[in-house]
Amino acid sequence: MQTGAPGLHVAIVMDGNGRWAAARGLLRSEGHRAGVDAVRRVVAAAPELGVGTLTVFALSSDNWRRPGPEIAALLALFEEYLLHESRACAEHGVQIRVIGRRDRIPPSLASAIQFAERATASARTIELRIAIDYSGRDAILRAACWMLSSLEVSQKEFARRLGEVTHGGRPSADVDLLIRTGGENRLSDFLLWECAYAEMVFTSKLWPDFGAKDLEAALHDFASRERRFGGLPAAAAGD
Ligand code: IPE
Ligand code: MG
Repeated sequence: MQTGAPGLHVAIVMDGNGRWAAARGLLRSEGHRAGVDAVRRVVAAAPELGVGTLTVFALSSDNWRRPGPEIAALLALFEEYLLHESRACAEHGVQIRVIGRRDRIPPSLASAIQFAERATASARTIELRIAIDYSGRDAILRAACWMLSSLEVSQKEFARRLGEVTHGGRPSADVDLLIRTGGENRLSDFLLWECAYAEMVFTSKLWPDFGAKDLEAALHDFASRERRFGGLPAAAAGD
């Protein structure tokens, strides 16, 4: 399964905003704001590093359990980003697509998503997929229910449907490299199908501290790995 744009598909679980803020005596929402700056830095650096698709986990479906004021601050931040940065994104070739459910977010955020997707539709340098109210399990379940009437389904067809149920509008794309900041070594219901053969890089660095150099280092690590997809190492394959 190919990604929307040529190049690698890097997915990021952006974790650690709250701890970053707490360490500075700031509100958690200020940590999230600093997290948006990190997104900007990483998106700007990604194309030159060979990244064609970048999927970032902005709000998990399980994050609704957080206190109302924090959720409100996050939703407002997404809306602000989508409305105010679409033009710059379009100019820099950043195509924005939001994946996840759209039926539980405020209508104003849904409109901002539509605005950003339209404004950046013809950008081709990099595809930025922002996961909002996203759950990998939920996406798989909904695609599976949709396919229930089909007797046999290819993985390609399933991936196409998976892309549609998450509103990506494109086939879901296999992740090459998954990065998680913040020191936790888990997937947290992010891109379960798409990460089947993803290489993983976990770092204790908190997301607001993450920058171009860190992305470069993660990609350097990725480049040193031999991806076998269940096959044999290249050296042994010819035996
Ligand atoms: C990740 O940072 C951002 C979102 C989930 C939106 P956290 O808010 O989880 O930060 P920590 O883990 O509490 O530091
Ligand atoms: Mg966290």
